[in-house]
Amino acid sequence: MYLFKQKDDLERLLSTARKQGKRIGFVPTMGALHQGHLSLIAAAKENSDLVVCSIFVNPTQFNDPADFEKYPITIDQDIQLLTAAGNDVLFLPSVQEMYPKGLAPEMHYEFGPLETVLEGAHRPGHFQGVGQVVHKLLSLVAPDKLFMGQKDFQQCLIINRLIKLLDLKVELVICPTLRETDGLAMSSRNLRLNPTERQNALHISRALNYIKDHVHTAPLQALSDQGIHQLTDHGFEVDYLEMVSILPDGNISFPDTPGNDPLYAVVAARENSSGVRLIDNMQVN
Ligand code: PAF
Repeated sequence: MYLFKQKDDLERLLSTARKQGKRIGFVPTMGALHQGHLSLIAAAKENSDLVVCSIFVNPTQFNDPADFEKYPITIDQDIQLLTAAGNDVLFLPSVQEMYPKGLAPEMHYEFGPLETVLEGAHRPGHFQGVGQVVHKLLSLVAPDKLFMGQKDFQQCLIINRLIKLLDLKVELVICPTLRETDGLAMSSRNLRLNPTERQNALHISRALNYIKDHVHTAPLQALSDQGIHQLTDHGFEVDYLEMVSILPDGNISFPDTPGNDPLYAVVAARENSSGVRLIDNMQVN
């Protein structure tokens, strides 16, 4: 596997690959890799000739400095995992390499109402930071296909909108959330949970499964209220637990009753004893 820390080196290799007609698949990450990330690499390998993975803990998308400070970093293990997974190129830039002009926003992305609901309502500026770094990475890698995980439900919608705003040719491929055998959605932040906290975190997927099992038997508002109670009863601070659909224009709607469109239960909650904020979502109809 090639490992590049400088944009120029990466660009040189990619320009040669493109001249050889290779289709480039890209998996952007913030490291602390787990099987969920590796499933993105596997999907990229299946659908491209050259797979680029980036690891960059992007400071501009953390609205909470403590979350940024504590974000798990496991670079040596990540390199081993990527090598074993057959990843072709790892891009591992510094903050200076990604933001040579400093961290102040260089432009504002018009994400519309998508930016101010759910995650956006609780993490002001988060999606501008995501947009900023993914824009930079997509300009650099110029992949044919971009692979992202469904676990970041709203992020996928934001990136879809970013691609449209920038009129990029890249195809966004959304891959399913991977879960541990006990149901916990795989996440780098799980590394910050001790065994007791990790056990407690199972209440998140349990609440989503409860909603899925009862979606046709109770009003949606009552179900989300019940889910919230299940979590608060176990010491979670719930930012939101809502039932949503995706509108044809890529915005999020909050239906009162299940219709024909896919309905998702989406949740963000802080496990209180660890302070770790976890997100998850599940299609419930
Ligand atoms: O999902 C992530 O890991 C990050 O938000 C991303 C897309 C790599 C941008 O920093």
